Amino acid sequence: MITKQKGTYDIYGDLAKKRAYVNEVLDALCEKYNYGYIETPVFEASELFHRGVGESTDMVQKETYDFIDRGDRSITLRPEGTAGVVRWFIENKLYGNLTDPVKVYYNMKMYRYERPQSGRNREFTQWGFECFGSDDVMSDAEVISLAYNAYRLLGLDNITIKINSLGDTESRNNYREALIKYFKPKIKDLCEDCQNRLEKNPLRILDCKVDAENEIIKNAPKTLDYLNEASLERFNKLKELLDLMDINYVVDTNLVRGLDYYNHVVFEVVLDDSYALGGGGRYNGLVETLGGPSVPGVGFAMGYDRTILAMEEHNVNIPINDSIDVYLLYVSETEKETAAYLTQDLRMNGFITETDMMGKSLKGQFKSVDRFNSKYLIVLNDEKLADNKITIKDNKTKEEEDININDLVDYLDMHM
Ligand code: HAM
Repeated sequence: MITKQKGTYDIYGDLAKKRAYVNEVLDALCEKYNYGYIETPVFEASELFHRGVGESTDMVQKETYDFIDRGDRSITLRPEGTAGVVRWFIENKLYGNLTDPVKVYYNMKMYRYERPQSGRNREFTQWGFECFGSDDVMSDAEVISLAYNAYRLLGLDNITIKINSLGDTESRNNYREALIKYFKPKIKDLCEDCQNRLEKNPLRILDCKVDAENEIIKNAPKTLDYLNEASLERFNKLKELLDLMDINYVVDTNLVRGLDYYNHVVFEVVLDDSYALGGGGRYNGLVETLGGPSVPGVGFAMGYDRTILAMEEHNVNIPINDSIDVYLLYVSETEKETAAYLTQDLRMNGFITETDMMGKSLKGQFKSVDRFNSKYLIVLNDEKLADNKITIKDNKTKEEEDININDLVDYLDMHM
């Protein structure tokens, strides 16, 4: 038997319906924020993600799906959405005439070679969004508010937004120096990966998965103490805006995020202090890193699969339709022909319609009516059809009526 790959899962049945509902909510919300939809290719040049996300990040070191294609190109399956969207932004020269920000959102599969566990998969979906061209804290606030409102509209009222600031380049450099100075005498007590990170990228020591609980890491210098005046002022202004917008946040000075491209605000969404349901932040240097001009950007991505799991765990009522409108029953060949054109008619008039396609007996068809939880059933009968009549029955009240076949759509319109 060929089975699915580790860390992947099939989407069908109720889960597919739940996802359709979540998509509907998120699409409608993005429309209110005036974000347009984008999808980028599943595979891109490896360089895009390696350079974009950062060579020394765990994601690039341990998690990307990299391969050489038949044309000898180095290819990587998309591990996150931001780098591909930035590539699109640069390739289409959208930086040319930026009188207003460019705002896009996506709902895409991502691939990371991680150790699978509940809420952590190798193929997973992110719903995310990016905003290019504005360096105003107003755009930080907009992005955080869009993330916040998404979870609330999905019924996850208890989320907390953790925010922190890494500051501008000067602040980040100061912080980097402070980290090197702090870790150098203690580095032998940390894992081998951390020892390699010390000179290359000391910030990555802070999100080490092996040493996460180590006191040395917990007591490391905090970003906020190294922000220069302008960066600190900016962070305070953002907090003011979030307060005005009534957004529930806490400042978490340990939050640094696992990707290299961030500066200024970084944030994560958590529920019950469990794993992150989403994360984002500002990335003013990324467009330039990937070959474009200097254009600021800020964005966020929701762990879509994790969010649905959280909705299930918190018993959020996800409206899914588990019934159909009409089931047509027949026995003879001529009744079957009538069923064929009536199903066509009903479906095109908006009714969820089923009929038998398994050669079942009438008794078997009645069982299908119940299995499909049909609101109405129509029993086709040659004698009545000769008078243009059909029998329609309300499956709940069990009341039935003979009506003219030409009045069927009007009848259902009136009764449903
Ligand atoms: P990230 O924190 O790597 O950020 O991923 C965002 C979210 O995706 C995580 O908070 C988590 O909920 C979900 N996620 C990550 N890995 C997995 C996995 N293996 N299985 C299930 N869910 C997962 C980014 O990807 C950035 N591109 C976000 C961003 C957008 N920053 C600015 N713009």
